[in-house]
Amino acid sequence: MSGAQVITVDGPAASGKGTIASGLGRRFGLPVLDSGLLYRAVGVLLEREGGDLDDAAAAAAVAGRLTAETLADPAFRTRGAGEAASRVAVHPQVREVLLQLQRAFAAQAGGAVLDGRDMGTVICPDAGAKLYVTARPEVRAERRWRQLTGQGESVSLDEVLADIHRRDARDSGREAAPMRPAADAALLDTSEMTIEQAADAARRIVEAARARQAP
Ligand code: DC
Repeated sequence: MSGAQVITVDGPAASGKGTIASGLGRRFGLPVLDSGLLYRAVGVLLEREGGDLDDAAAAAAVAGRLTAETLADPAFRTRGAGEAASRVAVHPQVREVLLQLQRAFAAQAGGAVLDGRDMGTVICPDAGAKLYVTARPEVRAERRWRQLTGQGESVSLDEVLADIHRRDARDSGREAAPMRPAADAALLDTSEMTIEQAADAARRIVEAARARQAP
């Protein structure tokens, strides 16, 4: 597969990568995969069937049963789902099952945008454009707090900040595909940016990467 038309957008929770990935998808006419949703679905569905998030084999079995229909559940957008996702994401067996699905998405004719933690490092190392989106933890906590309270969740800003720190530590400290920028990723810090400014900066990064590849 040639990854020239593939764009990867990695980064920590609430960095703005999801919004940036959707914007790039619209701008370049590409389908977008929110890979975090896959891990969220595995965590929530496993908990629903009474399973243990630390049980790698049970989590991998749930991952093997995911379908496009199961992914459209608003329960995957909650605070608890993010935590459950981060916990099942440490299991190499779960990552292995989801790897095939993500690579198949990336291999679509015409290309794709993939957002997550290991898109540029493990899933699509030959992507034509790679971004690593960050923002200060306090800024990310405030964004996530607004989103969660807007969905009707009752949670304090301090609790969300603690979640962010815990998830950052787990996602970057795990052995299997830890969250980190690919060596050839462009870093984009959105702490001081509006959504429009971040989307614009991301578009310019992709255009520059594509211009470098042009014959
Ligand atoms: O992007 P998100 O917040 O929806 O991701 C939820 C969790 O899923 C995240 O804390 C770690 C895990 N994840 C992962 O390990 N690898 C990915 N490519 C995407 C998400």
